[in-house]
Amino acid sequence: MFGRPEQTRDTMGPAFLDPDRKGSRAQEFEEMLASRVVGQERAVRVMSSLYQIFLAGLDQRDRPIGTLLLLGPTGTGKTHVVERAAEALFGTSSAIVKIDCAEFQHSHEIAKLIGSPPGYLGHRETGPLLTQENLDRYQTEDNQLSIVLFDEIEKASDSLWQLLLGILDKATLTLGDNRRVDFSHSLVVMTSNLGAREISELISGGVGFAAAKAVKNSTNVTDEKIYRTALEAARRNFSPEFMNRIDKVVVFRSLQEQHFRQILDLELQAVQNRIIHCDGSSFTFQCSDAVKEVLLEDGIDPHYGARHLKRAVERILVYPLSNLIATKQVQLGDFVYVDLSPETGKLIFSRYHSADTFCEIPKPEIARAISRNIPTQSARGIFSAA
Ligand SMILES: Nc1ncnc2c1ncn2[C@@H]1O[C@H](COP(=O)(O)OP(=O)(O)OP(=O)(O)O)[C@@H](O)[C@H]1O
Ligand SMILES: [Mg+2]
Repeated sequence: MFGRPEQTRDTMGPAFLDPDRKGSRAQEFEEMLASRVVGQERAVRVMSSLYQIFLAGLDQRDRPIGTLLLLGPTGTGKTHVVERAAEALFGTSSAIVKIDCAEFQHSHEIAKLIGSPPGYLGHRETGPLLTQENLDRYQTEDNQLSIVLFDEIEKASDSLWQLLLGILDKATLTLGDNRRVDFSHSLVVMTSNLGAREISELISGGVGFAAAKAVKNSTNVTDEKIYRTALEAARRNFSPEFMNRIDKVVVFRSLQEQHFRQILDLELQAVQNRIIHCDGSSFTFQCSDAVKEVLLEDGIDPHYGARHLKRAVERILVYPLSNLIATKQVQLGDFVYVDLSPETGKLIFSRYHSADTFCEIPKPEIARAISRNIPTQSARGIFSAA
């Protein structure tokens, strides 16, 4: 049974194998996640390793496919990575059974998760959330698994903890009416902000763009410390029984300036996708580098993560764009170039009609000249909206 390793036919020596090579599906999954989740490589790798274990059929039958605890500062991508994984596997970010632990503090709220025993008040009013049907709802022929997300677990009540421990340990849950729910095909992800404040202090003493720049090169020095800080906070707050049932703890890094820059490009792409899906006036737009700098300057705050940047994009860019759509100043097929006026510091929006022969990306100088009403040949269909 434990004989010599398999030998190659021509050399009769052992055939060395490559245990680091992933199958194409796990590889594709990892690449898709990596293209959308910035700066959290470990989280991406852990997710794809668990998916690979599932694909290879090596997940343990009486446990969930994987149990993951995601820790780290707010707005650094904990929920985002789970949503992107759902998108990669099932085509939509909402293919997740999500439990916001803060919402289930009392026993009657737990009934919303598992239902009440027959005969109890409210037994038939609304179906419980954690049924087998809800768990299996998004599964496809290729991906017979589900993603279950327990968000902000530090806020979970005692009864929710009991329920969670049962799921992590035995992969089963008994509903109010005694039906059993099987979690052995589920990837159970839990997120928590525990230790986030200490990490934030560790990473940067200040707030804003300057602070973000100051910590630019300190990533490697502090990563180890961040990991230990978060883990210690989790150990202080969570019981050993719980920590013992977690397969992997991933601590998310605080985002650095270069991460914010990449996230900005993703967010601008997301705005473009929203425009493409809006009724009737789908157009394309591009921001100059100067506009990107304005968005970053306003949107980088290491203490609040990428949410602050998203808000800056909405306020500075999406509001005026939505005005342009609502007042029909842009139409289907137009191209809009967004630049910054050096004189006023306001944004200049220049439109190029689809019918125009001018189809190159406009030069900033042209847009500026036009905004100052200097007639040029390519001024047709261009306006300023500072
Ligand atoms: N690493 C990242 N890569 C790409 N986008 C990110 C990243 N982190 C955050 N974002 C963007 O910021 C938004 C907020 O991030 P997310 O909801 O994942 O924060 P979180 O870490 O779960 O924070 P909290 O602990 O407050 O729940 C996401 O929807 C996403 O658009
Ligand atoms: Mg979150």
